[in-house]
Amino acid sequence: MKSQQTTNAMQARLGELRKLINYHNYRYHVLDDPEISDFEFDQLIKELKNIETLFPELVTPDSPSQRAGAEPSERFNKVSHPAPILSLSNAFEAQDVRAWYERILKIDERVAEADFVVQPKIDGLTVVLHYQQGIFSQGATRGDGLTGEDITNNLRTIKALPLRIPVSDEGLNPPEYLVVRGEAFITIKDFEALNMRLKQAGEKVYLNPRNTAAGSLRQLDPALTAARPLTLLLYEIVDASSDLPVTNQETLNMLMKFGFPIPEQFYCRNIEDAISAYENIVRRRDEFVFEADGAVIKIDDLSLARDLGVVGKDPRGAIAFKFPAQVVTTQLLDITVNVGRTGVLTPQAILSPVNIGGVVVKQATLHNFDYIFDKDIRIGDRVAVKRAGDVIPYIIGPILSARTGEEIVFIPPQACPVCGQPVEHLAGEVAWYCVNSGCSAQLIRNLEHFVSRGAMDIVGLGIRIVEQLVESGMVKDIADLYSLKRADLLNLDGFADKKAENLIESIERSKGQSLARVVNALGIHGVGEVVAGDLANVFQNLEEISEAGFEEIQTIEGIGPNIAQAIVDWFERPSNQQVLNKLRRSGVWPQQRVNELRDVIPGILKDLTFVVTGTLSEFTRESVKEYIKLHGGRVSDSVSKKTNYLVAGENPGSKLEKAESLGIPIINEIELREMTGG
Ligand code: IVH
Repeated sequence: MKSQQTTNAMQARLGELRKLINYHNYRYHVLDDPEISDFEFDQLIKELKNIETLFPELVTPDSPSQRAGAEPSERFNKVSHPAPILSLSNAFEAQDVRAWYERILKIDERVAEADFVVQPKIDGLTVVLHYQQGIFSQGATRGDGLTGEDITNNLRTIKALPLRIPVSDEGLNPPEYLVVRGEAFITIKDFEALNMRLKQAGEKVYLNPRNTAAGSLRQLDPALTAARPLTLLLYEIVDASSDLPVTNQETLNMLMKFGFPIPEQFYCRNIEDAISAYENIVRRRDEFVFEADGAVIKIDDLSLARDLGVVGKDPRGAIAFKFPAQVVTTQLLDITVNVGRTGVLTPQAILSPVNIGGVVVKQATLHNFDYIFDKDIRIGDRVAVKRAGDVIPYIIGPILSARTGEEIVFIPPQACPVCGQPVEHLAGEVAWYCVNSGCSAQLIRNLEHFVSRGAMDIVGLGIRIVEQLVESGMVKDIADLYSLKRADLLNLDGFADKKAENLIESIERSKGQSLARVVNALGIHGVGEVVAGDLANVFQNLEEISEAGFEEIQTIEGIGPNIAQAIVDWFERPSNQQVLNKLRRSGVWPQQRVNELRDVIPGILKDLTFVVTGTLSEFTRESVKEYIKLHGGRVSDSVSKKTNYLVAGENPGSKLEKAESLGIPIINEIELREMTGG
């Protein structure tokens, strides 16, 4: 029998133990400066676990014992990010950085006075961490930037991640709600040690730290993630219930005070200093414990950065300055020919495997047949290969001095290497095409794109299965996926009941995807996530898009004449109309959400900047922002002289005071609706 007294005493001891463990964990994993031995640390964990076994009712979610405690899950749930998780545009030379600076200076003259923060760019995976009342409550991947996958239980296993934000020495309390962003990765040393262990055990080794980290974070069983040496660095506050810091410097200081590990940084007074900081980072590129692929240069002033806006998914207020490309030489063993989604034939170099900056390269693109002849590249040549960041490696050219005379001149195929039909060359283009619309290679590529994560996101439909479906003749176009039956799948190699059922369920679930995703999934030339989103903001459904003319599409911001033409052409093609009809009959016919569009007067809030605060009754935090943007207005997170209106709901907090002190008009949601004629 547990007496109340014993329970109380144990609860108190557990409180002490958790605090001690969290503290020593922080010393070890964040500061890299332990105060006690591993043995002493293990004793604390042992005591904690013993008490928790005897008193399971006293286990809390932030207990260190819960890091690897969760059960495996079937799939990851989706998590909406509280603000878009943006990416970065790239610079490859100092000139690109200076051009970026000039561009943003033209947009806002405050850039002339701006300070910069420069950090190494960690080649890991973005993670978004949520804290409620200072306790780690949810963690997500970046996903498409708006919605990610819930990997809370996996992130919990990372020792450098604080499960609870302690009250700081200066008495700084964490805000009630805090969302931070950073990078999860595996250090080079840990990666090498892991591969060594795998090799000794006769298992397959990993390619590079980034792939290993990605694979580890997306394990359905947290116990597997826990076995991988993942760690973290945080650099951004995405959202908080309190006022957000106004500079990057302040953000990093605040993150550090809350016990988060942060990257090293340079504070620079002007753009030339920032370029020097990059050069310093380049010189030390091999000294970082993690794999870095460049430096990030960020405008320090966050409100200036925000006001500069976003191009696609890239904020104007920061830029990734990539490390110089690395070049090595190796032997060109063979040239093969791939058939792409549009039927274009692309020669591919098969190389003697070579390590370029930590990545083993076995293949490289040769662009097109003309490229091979212009550079006089021959099979058997020693060739120079270049890899720059995440760009596909390519062949610069042959090393002529290494020629032996044994090299063989490549002869382009006269027929498609997949379907055997003759290939064609369009006037004015360098590319050769397989024009057989029934060519299985094209269909396979199309399907691969259709089911991919940014498109229909059909989980469990990998390339092998796509190939099986096409080769067996079960799937002749993308819409055929929706007529597949469980019994059909059971005829394929490697399919048992459960797998077939899961796949059918996954396909069924994809019918609920948004208009933007379906448009992206169609694989129209030039229409990716961004353009698909633009189309879905203007049209209600696929029928409206297919009926729209060139002129109408071309007037949409962000869509130029070439893409507009490609869209019109795609919808006019009879085979595509057939596919659309089939999709419609199968129930893949998303409607853009109502009221977003029907009663919108697009430009009515043009040139007006809004800040929203407090709880609204008719809108959620996100939907009010969307509503303002749809009417052409801007939304900012903090009140400044540039704010035109503050939309205030219940419990508005400090933003209201600030707006009042600056004399900014304060309106409620009804008045907002009235402004938009609604
Ligand atoms: S800042 C809007 N800082 O690089 C702010 N990103 O290529 C955008 N990354 O998606 C991010 N290290 O995942 C920032 N010190 C760093 C970074 C960093 C790595 C990643 C990040 C981003 C990607 C863009």
